[in-house]
Amino acid sequence: MQNKSIILLTGGGYDKVTVGVRDADEPKAGEITVRLHANSLNYHDFAVVSGMWGPSEARIPMADGAGVVTAVGDGVSDFVVGDHVVSTFFPTWLAGEPLVEGFATTPGDGVDGYARETVTASTQAFTLAPKGWSHVEASTLTTAALTSWRALMSDDALKPGDTVLVQGTGGVSIFALQFAKMAGAKVIATSSSDEKLERLKALGADHLINYRKTANWGEVAREITGGRGVDHIVEVGGPSTLDQSMMAARVGAHISVIGILTGLGGELSIVTALIKQLRLQGLIVGNRTQQQEMVRAIDANHMRPIVDKVFPLENIVEAFQYQESNQHFGKICLEM
Ligand SMILES: NC(=O)c1ccc[n+]([C@@H]2O[C@H](COP(=O)([O-])OP(=O)(O)OC[C@H]3O[C@@H](n4cnc5c(N)ncnc54)[C@H](OP(=O)(O)O)[C@@H]3O)[C@@H](O)[C@H]2O)c1
Repeated sequence: MQNKSIILLTGGGYDKVTVGVRDADEPKAGEITVRLHANSLNYHDFAVVSGMWGPSEARIPMADGAGVVTAVGDGVSDFVVGDHVVSTFFPTWLAGEPLVEGFATTPGDGVDGYARETVTASTQAFTLAPKGWSHVEASTLTTAALTSWRALMSDDALKPGDTVLVQGTGGVSIFALQFAKMAGAKVIATSSSDEKLERLKALGADHLINYRKTANWGEVAREITGGRGVDHIVEVGGPSTLDQSMMAARVGAHISVIGILTGLGGELSIVTALIKQLRLQGLIVGNRTQQQEMVRAIDANHMRPIVDKVFPLENIVEAFQYQESNQHFGKICLEM
């Protein structure tokens, strides 16, 4: 069966994006076929598609895909035809400690991803989607949501009453805000835009700081906690934000080192990390079991994702250019 696919030619770059066709096989034992309906965009996908980390061979991009199971192979017991499913970021990391270094097994990077109509893959490459969510909504979970979930609920054990700091209004940070509120935590949220801060408030953020207007936002966050400091920081900025994040942190705080929005490397104030006994944890997304736990929590709490804008699959470059403009609030998606 031939299916419409977005194909990114070797090396990546917007001028290397073409629409083509790829075959989808019948499912073998342990495999399912999924009719995909949506993808969501992440900074990682942007890096691949824009050519920043372009692939060394032609590649179907996009790690996040959601759709419906249309066929199951022999021995498949955890999915039936008609199930709504969402892809996993690490199809070979099912549970436990991290097993994989880098992106060699990540769909849309080291292997073909989900910017296509149909895929046949191992059952490990998918989990069930939350009940009642559209495919567009479900497609937001694979990368951004699971990263936030793991940061707060697996790498740290967030408790009601803890304080969480989230940075900006991208996909990871808004999911972190939603999961933190779900767990009964207080949230300090930052943004470069007062208008976006108001929208964060409507989502439940308890304290708001404009990081453009308040350069010492870390100190301000600490003052908000009465001087104790923030329990958990979802660090997406990178080199230009880590100092203020460490400033905001309480003694023994957990800082999830997630993002590279301001660059790939910089100086770390080792003395601050040491004196404050900080737990800096680098992470890449999470495992399949964590994704299943996240979906269960979403179902139980009737949470919905924040989707900013949806583009047709063919307009993938326009969608990434919109992401680059930083106008978005939450997730940008593709629909097919
Ligand atoms: N380690 C992992 O597993 C993992 C997983 C997912 C994402 N990431 C990384 O996490 C970062 C965020 O990803 P995303 O998908 O959420 O990105 P995104 O949706 O593109 O988020 C962009 C938003 O980040 C905010 N931002 C930009 N510069 C900032 C700064 N200096 N301080 C605070 N906020 C800033 C802006 O919010 P305002 O407009 O409100 O200012 C901007 O709109 C990226 O670097 C991505 O590579 C890592």
